[in-house]
Amino acid sequence: MNRILVTGSVGQIGSELTLALRKRYGNNNVVAGVNKTQPTGELKETGPWEIVNCTSMDAISNIVKKYKIDTIYHLAALLSAVAENNPQLAWDVNVNSLVNVLEVAREHKCAVFTPSSIGAFGPTTPADNTPQVTIQRPTTMYGVTKVTGELLCDYYYHKFKVDTRGLRYPGIISYITLPGGGTTDYAVEIFYEAIKHNKYTCFLKKGTYLDMMYMPDALDAAMDLMEADPSRLKNRNAFNVTSMSFDPEMIAAEIKKLIPGFAMDYKVDPLRQSIADSWPNHMDDTAAREEWGWNPKYSLTAMCKDMVEKLKIKLQ
Ligand SMILES: NC(=O)c1ccc[n+]([C@@H]2O[C@H](COP(=O)([O-])OP(=O)(O)OC[C@H]3O[C@@H](n4cnc5c(N)ncnc54)[C@H](O)[C@@H]3O)[C@@H](O)[C@H]2O)c1
Repeated sequence: MNRILVTGSVGQIGSELTLALRKRYGNNNVVAGVNKTQPTGELKETGPWEIVNCTSMDAISNIVKKYKIDTIYHLAALLSAVAENNPQLAWDVNVNSLVNVLEVAREHKCAVFTPSSIGAFGPTTPADNTPQVTIQRPTTMYGVTKVTGELLCDYYYHKFKVDTRGLRYPGIISYITLPGGGTTDYAVEIFYEAIKHNKYTCFLKKGTYLDMMYMPDALDAAMDLMEADPSRLKNRNAFNVTSMSFDPEMIAAEIKKLIPGFAMDYKVDPLRQSIADSWPNHMDDTAAREEWGWNPKYSLTAMCKDMVEKLKIKLQ
């Protein structure tokens, strides 16, 4: 594996994953695929970038041919809250684009990494210690597209031997690029507001437990899964992975230890609360630990400490 295309590379995960991949595989071997927003700074300066609208199969195919790509990290997607407000576009971007990527991968023999999400579960899924294989009846368009994506990736693996692998990411917390309209965005916003204003109004209510992960672990998970020995993988699309599970009170309490006087109140957003209520409290990620050595480094305490330190410098 040495020639990589990342789609959605200016997004929250893509903007950091592209740089991490460049560090690991060489700057010129990793193409940043963008839709409308052009890359800036390090992303633009350290390696090639191209406009790749993934709803066009030709656009993907042209770049794969031009750079002799052998691995696609397909991150282009609409996130949960955005998808719920535009379900037709969400289907087009999240499903039709994936079909395009898989078809190009089949033709050009590329491996494909596609993130699924905790959104692939629904209210009838066991909410605690959610098993790797369990009921998946999501009630959001985001979830419908994520389950469809998992099934499509498995189908292309079994039918056409495309090397597809995926993770069910929980909410991802980072200080570089803001999240793109998901239900777990509060866990990033809270740090910005705590540092800037010493207070935060949370859009999810007390007691809403969700799985979360700090970005360095999310990046390692993607790259480690793609490097895993295929003979060890009993599952492929997609692995439960989590580092921590907390509710708004727990993260606020950790931040208070680092920013004395920090206060949080609540103004619940009914759309995002209903989405969060349909997702697990905490997934069981034993399969990822056993099959490819998933072992996250950041706990809630360690993540909060690093976020506050890094974000204070960024916002200065
Ligand atoms: N961030 C999270 O907390 C989280 C959690 C679970 C799963 N995921 C999944 O990880 C992946 C990446 O998420 P993210 O947080 O970086 O999302 P994001 O919204 O920050 O970025 C997505 C990117 O996709 C691009 N895009 C949209 N339509 C496109 C198109 N037609 N062609 C090409 N690019 C297009 C957007 O420009 C954007 O840069 C998604 O599949 C998402 O569902 C993210």
